[in-house]
Formats: sequence, structure tokens, C-alpha cells
Amino acid sequence: MKDSDSSVTRRRLLGAVGTAGAASVAGCGFQPPTAGEGDGPAESPTERVGRIERYPRLRIAAVDEIDVGETVEFEYPLDGSGNFLTRLTEDADAGVGPEEGIVAFSNLCTHMGCAVSGNVDAERGTAGPCPCHYTSFDLSKGGLVVVGPATTDLPQVRLDVADGDVFATGMDGLVHGRRNNLADGEPVPEEGE
Ligand code: FES
Repeated sequence: MKDSDSSVTRRRLLGAVGTAGAASVAGCGFQPPTAGEGDGPAESPTERVGRIERYPRLRIAAVDEIDVGETVEFEYPLDGSGNFLTRLTEDADAGVGPEEGIVAFSNLCTHMGCAVSGNVDAERGTAGPCPCHYTSFDLSKGGLVVVGPATTDLPQVRLDVADGDVFATGMDGLVHGRRNNLADGEPVPEEGE
């Protein structure tokens, strides 16, 4: 057989194998997956972002139970994420309740994560000095750093009052040590769950 003949034969054989292979795949009933199939409808990027960023709604306490200077500690938005709620003597940015003086913040100092809820001063409207390196935050101005080595304001919990109760509904600012306030943990259960 001449070289050109063997070349034609090889091409015909390869073509035949390719056709047979395609026929056998079609014949076995295999269907490649298409978008939207599987366990359920495919989640769009917009839906995924909405799910990740959705904060739970958590009842913290009755407004009547919160006296000036008292602190109430609670976990939000994830199990184990510590915060404190307090009532200042004067109105505060994003405050709710009587004189709009009830506010809530992350308990973790934004410098290195030490707890600041033990040093809340309702008269001055401050949290701190932090027991580790003495940063103080202004609770009447959204957790603004007043003095100390921290360079980021204390994250504030968004509050809402309904039927005499205070609810947490979200957070402004990134909690110390987290890349996302809702990532790497279980959200606290909402009312009724
Ligand atoms: S951890 Fe609070 S000032 Fe350093």
C-alpha cells in the first residue's frame, strides 16, 4: 500500500470511531447538564449577594427595662458575635426610644478586639477606655474614636422599636476580626424560627 493510501485509511478509521463514539454517548441516555438544572433553580449573583447580606431581626429587650447607664449584652448577627446595648442620658446618632438615647455597638474594640462593654459611661456617652490599650469611643456619634490607637469607629448595631421592644436589624461597620459580618458563622435565629 502506498503512503497516501494508508493515510486515507487512517483518516477514515478515525472518522468512523468518532461517529461510533458519539452514537454510543447519545444511545446511553446521557444528557449534559444545562443551566438551571440540578437541585433547584440556579441562584443568580444578585440573589446570592442579597442572601449573604441579609441581617436577621432580633428582639433584644423591652424599652421599659433599659435604664440609663445599664448595659445589655447580646449576640448578633452571628452566634458568638458580642454586642452591648445601653441608654445614654442624651440623644445619640441612630438612637431609639426615650430621648433617642438607646444605642447598641459591637463589644469588640476595633484595635485588637478587647471587650469594651465594661467601661460604658452613659453621662459622657462613651465606651472606654478599652482595658487593653485605652481607646475610647463616642457612643453618641456612631462609635467615633475619641482617643487611643484604634483607627476605626466601633461598629454600630441598627435598632428599631416596635410594640415597646427594641430590635436589632443590621450593623454599620465591620466587626473586628471579620471580613464580612455575616460570614463564617450561624446567624442568630429570628423571632418565630
Ligand atoms: S484592643 Fe482596644 S485599644 Fe487596643
